[in-house]
Amino acid sequence: MNLRIKSFEEYQSKYKQSVANPEQFWAEIADTFSWQQKWDNVLDWNFNDPSIKWFSGGKMNITENLLDRHLKDRGNKVAFHWEPNDINESGKSITYNELHKEVCKLSNGLKELGIEKGDRVCIYMPMVLEATVAILACARIGAVHSIVFAGFSSSALANRIDDAQAKLVITSDGLNRGTKKVDLKSMVDEAVKDCSSIQHVLVLDCIHSKPTMKEGRDIDYHALINKQPHDCTPETMDAEDMLFILYTSGSTGKPKGVVHTCGGYMVYTSYSFENVFQYEENDVFWCTADIGWITGHSYIVYGPLLSGATSVIFEGIPTFPDAGRFWQVCEKYKVNQFYTAPTAIRALMAHGTEIVNKYDLSSLKVIGSVGEPINEEAWNWYHEHIGKGNCPVVDTWWQTETGGIMLSGLGDLSPMNPTHAGFPLPGIQPALLDSDGNEIIENDQEGYLCMKFPWPSILRTTYGDHDRCKNTYFSNYKGYYFTGDGAKRDKNGMYRIIGRVDDVINVSGHRFGTAEIEDAINTNSFAIESAVVGYPHDIKGQGIYAYVVVDKSHTGSEREISASLIESVSSGIGRIAKPDKIQMVTGLPKTRSGKIMRRILRKIAEGEKANFGDTSTLLDPSVVEEIVGNSK
Ligand code: WT7
Repeated sequence: MNLRIKSFEEYQSKYKQSVANPEQFWAEIADTFSWQQKWDNVLDWNFNDPSIKWFSGGKMNITENLLDRHLKDRGNKVAFHWEPNDINESGKSITYNELHKEVCKLSNGLKELGIEKGDRVCIYMPMVLEATVAILACARIGAVHSIVFAGFSSSALANRIDDAQAKLVITSDGLNRGTKKVDLKSMVDEAVKDCSSIQHVLVLDCIHSKPTMKEGRDIDYHALINKQPHDCTPETMDAEDMLFILYTSGSTGKPKGVVHTCGGYMVYTSYSFENVFQYEENDVFWCTADIGWITGHSYIVYGPLLSGATSVIFEGIPTFPDAGRFWQVCEKYKVNQFYTAPTAIRALMAHGTEIVNKYDLSSLKVIGSVGEPINEEAWNWYHEHIGKGNCPVVDTWWQTETGGIMLSGLGDLSPMNPTHAGFPLPGIQPALLDSDGNEIIENDQEGYLCMKFPWPSILRTTYGDHDRCKNTYFSNYKGYYFTGDGAKRDKNGMYRIIGRVDDVINVSGHRFGTAEIEDAINTNSFAIESAVVGYPHDIKGQGIYAYVVVDKSHTGSEREISASLIESVSSGIGRIAKPDKIQMVTGLPKTRSGKIMRRILRKIAEGEKANFGDTSTLLDPSVVEEIVGNSK
């Protein structure tokens, strides 16, 4: 923990160095970690293949850096305070020594199950300490983890297991979520039925539901680890060996497995963590994301542990038992840096300030936002009522593919401007391109946000399909990584993110491809065809609006059909992707060549009744009138 920049001037000079001599810049940072063998080359890259290698030839293990390296000075320091869903249950705190022991035990257990370096392990778990232990045990033995958010359905889980050809699923009997209990084990049973790669399912007891265990396949977590030795030598990994796969949605096809590798991801998550949050040795950090998303990977698990931090892991939800829960947890652990999503801020804002003011939030130093654009009203409320006007708001822009925060202020060092993510971190070289691929040099113009130089935690490939990686990110603009977002840059060099420019929608900070939701709807026998678009939603940022052409030969009320369509999305993807509005239509607006004119559907979903721009290519304009007439 010595990577922290301490003034804005220092940031500016570091930024210049990082652009003038990126290899030297990152080598100096990488040198502060523990390597079993030094790298041959700092960086080899081209964005055409693409082929990107950081610190290749370097030998290391990320868990040696985030556990073993700290034991001498921080062995008894708390790594995590775990706060359960139920406010009346007592939490648990785990020190670096204890975490090391738990990780080693499970590492040995995984080896006993036949898991070897390079094997894929799927993790489908609630927000409990064992989820972190599972992640780190994989990394320790060189197995590649693929975490699937526990809100995804069994069929979404099966797709991900199958794509990665995972040998093992680590799960629990169920999870606690507010007043509900969710059965995870039966979802896993359903998912692995047809996954021939799966050899074992490791099951942690979380809700004491005593699930049926399949003989020879299912293994109890504690039965496996209790008998294991407390030490496990970390596997020697090349910096460019795979660390994990994380599936994320794009504008076409099934979600793709974004691949991150060991060395670069280690260097960048730790560096960005310390700088963006200005984390100091005795601070307590809390990121409210789920470990199933990249935010949880990078800023609950890897970044904070690499930096020897103390963090909070929270099992529950912001509104249980009431809307004061986040603030009560901040008070309880004297949280110094708090990191959440705009959707949570907007939802809590609706409950007023009285409940906030019941808690002492004076420990807060930095408050962060991530996942979607934060609107000015939410920014102001967060700044004034949570930060009490004296905590900087760091609006952090990044993606699953970037591995770490790319655009953001650095704690209280940087100037802030509501709704502006701010400045590129050192080493990050953004560019705004016009539709011809020319860089926009002038200020205050909207362009396609791209990156012109690699940073250590950029994705390396999409699992099992390198062409897809190339086509999605490196082909739109030759020589650039394309983010899929539109952005503007102001005269001070601060970036403002406008939003996605592709068919990806961002619902409560969760990313879905419209095609993926349409595919789920189209599996329903009522549906002939569908088109899904996003529309502005007060709490979620974007809501999901589905236009569905329904098979008339079916009898069924509109309500029944809607419920059935929603069920198809819940079972195909998960409840988090279910449409907010469903409109049954007799046809979709298509061009003569059969392409759906989504632009028109988006406008209708936004409430527009006329002014659809150029509609001369429409095959049947009467379709639009009908849709407008019945719009929701
Ligand atoms: C997309 C990435 C890694 C963060 C969690 C989501 C949007 C993310 C911001 C922000 C405006 C943001 C972008 C991006 N996004 N952070 N601070 N301001 N938009 O990761 O699921 O990979 O989604 O989320 O559109 O492309 P993700």
